[in-house]
Amino acid sequence: MRVRTAVIPAAGLGTRFLPVTKSVPKELLPIIDVPALQLIIDEAVGAGIDHIVIVNSPNKPSIEAYFAESPEVLAKLDASGRSDMADRMRAIGRDVKVSFVYQHAALGLGHAVGCARDAVGDQPFAVLLPDELMGSSELLAAMCAVCIDTAGSVVGLKRVPMDDVSAYGVIDPIGEVDANGVVAVRDLIEKPAVADAPSDLIIIGRYVLTPDVFDAIDALKPGAGGELQLTDALRVQAAGRPLHGVLRDVRRYDTGNPVGWLSAVVELALEHPRYGEAFRAELERMIGRGPV
Ligand code: UTP
Repeated sequence: MRVRTAVIPAAGLGTRFLPVTKSVPKELLPIIDVPALQLIIDEAVGAGIDHIVIVNSPNKPSIEAYFAESPEVLAKLDASGRSDMADRMRAIGRDVKVSFVYQHAALGLGHAVGCARDAVGDQPFAVLLPDELMGSSELLAAMCAVCIDTAGSVVGLKRVPMDDVSAYGVIDPIGEVDANGVVAVRDLIEKPAVADAPSDLIIIGRYVLTPDVFDAIDALKPGAGGELQLTDALRVQAAGRPLHGVLRDVRRYDTGNPVGWLSAVVELALEHPRYGEAFRAELERMIGRGPV
């Protein structure tokens, strides 16, 4: 048995990135020359996922357009001998099944995941927030393995300085993190004051959930911000069955706000095999002092 399906909630309003998100979904903002969403799908595929369910809003048709065939562009690329790019274009969505479901009002992350119930069925599934980029598939792959081993849901964790915990969901761990980075979770606390925080382990935007979470989602009442919160459904799960966290020192970018997105683009551009060298020279020229 393995985790094969991943849900990517992409129906939010993206208010932290207005005005661009008025017409361009933040999930499609470019990380150099690829939409952030593509990097999220690549991460999921790298962890063994072969079915992606995108929870979209009817107001964001450009997300579906990204997966549509583009015969005119392909013909032009083929005719002009740009076969590398033509191959890249043909590969979009080819190695993985991509389905769409709709959330008609942005009622919160818990509600968005609940919209994928029929598409997921009665099996464990991953959830990847598309505005958090991770450096690799390793965290998600480890989380999928822990879900199968423990028959319980799993959250992705990162350790942060204690002073930073108040911006995040924090876990209350049972015991220590083991040598594989796995820890049992007693409870989850949303944005605690530093003095009240039960640990310095924050929940990052990766989850692997058992399908009983859908019943907990159906029973949700509006929580923080009047939204139906996924964290509240996980607290219900934690009270009744094992919930674990997997800790990794991942490089994580929050591309849902301008500074996080800029940081991701600049750092990844500096490492880019094709554009990195030229971009580094340009950045050094702009900054006008020592090497970047
Ligand atoms: P965020 O809270 O980061 O996204 O949700 P948002 O609400 O779009 O952004 P801001 O806060 O207004 O700037 C994380 C992910 O969950 C999706 C979002 O699209 C985002 O990718 N989401 C959020 C939904 O699909 N539906 C919702 O009701 C809320």
